[in-house]
Order: sequence, then C-alpha cells, then structure tokens
Amino acid sequence: MKIKFSKPGKVSGNVIVLTVNEGAGLGDIGGSLDADSGNALSRAIKASQFEGKRETLCDILAPGGLDVDRVLIAGLGKGDISARELERVGGVVRGALGNGKAKDVTVIVEGKYGVSEADAAAAIASGFMLRNYSFDKYKTKKDQKDAKPPVKSLTLVTSAASGAKEAFNAWKAVAEGVMLARDLVNEPPNVLYPAAYAKRVEELTELGVKVEILDEKAMNALGMGALLAVGQGSTRESQLVVMQWNGGRKGDAPVAIVGKGVIFDTGGISIKPGAGMHEMKGDMAGSACVVGLMHALAARKAKVNVVGVIGLVENMPDGSAYRPGDILTSMSGQTIEIQNTDAEGRLVLADALWYTQDRFKPKFMIDLATLTGAILIALGKDHAGLFSNNDDLANRLALAGNETGEKVWRMPLAAEYDKLLDSDFADMRNIGGRDAGAITAAQFLQRFVNNVPWAHLDIAGTGMASNKSPISQHFGSGWGVRLLNKLIADHYEGAAAE
Ligand code: BES
Ligand code: MN
Ligand code: ZN
Repeated sequence: MKIKFSKPGKVSGNVIVLTVNEGAGLGDIGGSLDADSGNALSRAIKASQFEGKRETLCDILAPGGLDVDRVLIAGLGKGDISARELERVGGVVRGALGNGKAKDVTVIVEGKYGVSEADAAAAIASGFMLRNYSFDKYKTKKDQKDAKPPVKSLTLVTSAASGAKEAFNAWKAVAEGVMLARDLVNEPPNVLYPAAYAKRVEELTELGVKVEILDEKAMNALGMGALLAVGQGSTRESQLVVMQWNGGRKGDAPVAIVGKGVIFDTGGISIKPGAGMHEMKGDMAGSACVVGLMHALAARKAKVNVVGVIGLVENMPDGSAYRPGDILTSMSGQTIEIQNTDAEGRLVLADALWYTQDRFKPKFMIDLATLTGAILIALGKDHAGLFSNNDDLANRLALAGNETGEKVWRMPLAAEYDKLLDSDFADMRNIGGRDAGAITAAQFLQRFVNNVPWAHLDIAGTGMASNKSPISQHFGSGWGVRLLNKLIADHYEGAAAE
C-alpha cells in the first residue's frame, strides 16, 4: 500500500473518508463535497442519526453527484482527540472498508484535533497501516486471502501535507516494526526455527543494526547451562542473537532489551496438554518485540544506543531432553534444580539477562516474555504484568503504556515470594509452587539481575492470541514495540536523555 500526503485540491480516489467532531458539522472540503452531491452526505448523516461519536461511522455508498464508490464519515468524539485515539480511528476506517472494493482511499484531514493537523494525519495513516496488516502467505486459494485485493493507495489530504509527511516517517518506522514482530510471531515453528529466525534478524544490518549470532558452541564456552538445557531436546540448534543500534553518543551506556524466544514450547518432558498447544508457536513474542523495536529505532534513526538480546530455543521432549530433577549451572554460576521443564522461559532469560548486563553494563534492562499462564489469570489480556526493582523505570513504563494503549500493571516483588524458589539440592528450583505463579517467575529472573535498574514484562496475555483492537486483529499483535519506542523517545533519546 502506497501512502501519500497531499495539499487540498481536486479530490481523487474511489473511497473518500471524512472526519467529524461529535456534534459538529462537516468541514470545508466535506461541505463542498456535500454541496456537489446535492446534500447526499448531510442527508445520510441525518437519516442514520450519526452524531460523530468516537470510532463510529456513517457509510454512504455511491452518493449521487460524486465520482466515488463510497464516502465514509468517521466520528472523532467529543473533546481533544489524541494521536493514539486518532490512530485507532484510522484502524476503524480501514476495518470498515473491508477487502476488495476499496482501492484508492483518500482521507480528508480536517476537523478539531488535540494534536497538530500534521500529527493527526500521520497518526490516522499509522492506524490505517496497522489495520491493513495481513498474514496470508500460506493460503494458496486466492479467495481465502485476508486482503483480496488489498488497498492500493492511501492519500491523506491536509493543508499541513509536508509536515505530515515528515511526521509520518517516525510513525511508519514504528508501524513497520510492529508488523515485523507480528510476522515473526505468526510464522510457524517449522519455518521459523532458531537458526532461520537468527538469519531473519540479520536482515536488520541493512538498516545499520549490528547483528551477532552466538551458536551452541559459543554459548557453551560462556557457560550458558540454563539456556542450553532448554534447547537440548530439539534437533534445532539454539541461538543467541545480539543486536546493537548505536544512534546515540559514543560511549553512552546502552538501553538493553531482552526477549524470550521459545520458538515452540511443548513443555518438554513436563509436556503440555494437547488442546491449544499449537498456540505455543507464539512463545517467542517477547523476542519478536525486541526485533521489531530494533527495526523501528533503526528505521527512524533514533538518537540512542540500544542493545537487543534474544534467546532462541525450542522446548521439546526427547531422549536428550533435560528432565525434572536435573541440576543446571547457569552462566552466573548459580545452580538450578529443574522441577518442571515447562518453566523454561525463565531459564532462557536467566542466561540472556546475565550475559547482557555483564557484557554491556546497560543503563537499564527490560525483558519481555510470554512467561506464565498465571499472568493471564491475574490480569487477563488487557494489561501486561510489570515487575521492576526501580520505581522510576516502572512509572515511566506505566505512563508510556497509557499513552500508547499498550498498558502494563505493576505486580509486587518481595523476599517472601523469593523464598518459594528455595531448593533442597541447588541454589534454587525453577518453579515456586501453585501460588503467585507470575510473581515467582519474576523473582526467579531477579536472581539473575545485579544492581542495574530492571523491568520484566510478562506478555503471555498481550503478545499472542490477545484481544482484538482497531489496530490489531491477528494472532501476533506486535505488542510492546509501540510501548518501548515511546519510552525511549520520551526519556532516553537525544535531548530527552540529558
Ligand atoms: N510459555 C508458557 C507460558 C504461557 C502460557 C504463554 C499461556 C502464553 C500463554 C510458559 O513457558 C509456561 O509453560 N509456564 C508455565 C510455568 C509453570 C510450569 C510454573 C505455566 O504458566 O503454566
Ligand atoms: Mn513452558
Ligand atoms: Zn514457554
């Protein structure tokens, strides 16, 4: 889909979209289209009792007097509409257009927004783009494709066209990052096994990201006994991928983002029940977010140093698989008694976190992981679980969450929970028992974090098979890319970092 911004002039396209504030009339361009149509638009608005409430639509097919198939009027609601809300409106519009009939869509950006018209146009375009996402590469029957045929072009008409075009560069970089993350999550595990995944990440070098791939031999030499144990029952080799984007000042400590990349989680010897197991192809959503974020930052040339580290493994039951009762030695030197091979994500992160803080001495670390079913029980699919040893970092994440709609909810960490991980045979065991499952998982991770500010996001409910929204409709949501991009842009980039 081509996206353009143009100044008001002759309106073209086979679908025209107008936006109206609740209780307000059509704008200048909308008004003149209404006049050209012999008031077909205003009559339709009245007849359908459309009031302009946020995310509602008035759909007018083949209005007389206009050379278009459809005019869609989108409500903005009352009050100052924010960029994020406009993004959702863009998604609602794309959703309503369906597939096949809308080819060249023109959005007239006029109305009262809580942001500049340039930003409004860019935000609407972003929402449209995110909703336009499809993943149908494995459908061989044309009529079953998600988009048949997809929208060819989106034009945003605004008097601030050049500013909008400029503003859209950053939005587009982030939307592409979100869609990359979705693609990675949606790919099946037979295609996206660890080495294939690592190869895919290598493509980020084209954007200026430095990518290193550590194979099992390299990880062995580093003593990553926890991560390696998880992958040892798989015929596919485990990989650790390190990405570096150095857009900030030379020598500035980087921000570090670490992701769980279990490309498939059978549970291992502690095997999962069959129902729904296929969804465990999404158990690498944390890592996908890291890759999507690196894409976004590099594509918009963010003025910050960021390192992304992802541990890629497959958790399989096999003659060579690790088992309950095994005692592993992690890179940190701490030993772990395995009591359930399905608590594998924390083992991958234990070594990935340790390696990251040890090698990069980051400003702070954030990890993302589809870590526990327990976080779904606690928070459902609307908030990710946030655990942190640092109030400032936690507050900034919560704020960025509210602003992007990728919301987080803070959960406790405490010595009483940590104690539940004590083992009779090793420094710790890898499960904490029935209670407080998401918290004991976070406590486990914290045992591999030294004095660095750290936050853990449990995205089991948000990163895969999550709730649909106007901008996200697929299994892989790309959750977290917009959140972390916002956190970095607001606090750690360029002037904001001083
Ligand atoms: N990948 C799962 C967690 C998960 C569950 C992600 C549902 C997405 C949706 C994780 O590896 C796991 O199996 N966790 C166990 C931990 C338990 C054995 C302590 C769980 O949550 O049951
Ligand atoms: Mn598991
Ligand atoms: Zn898992």
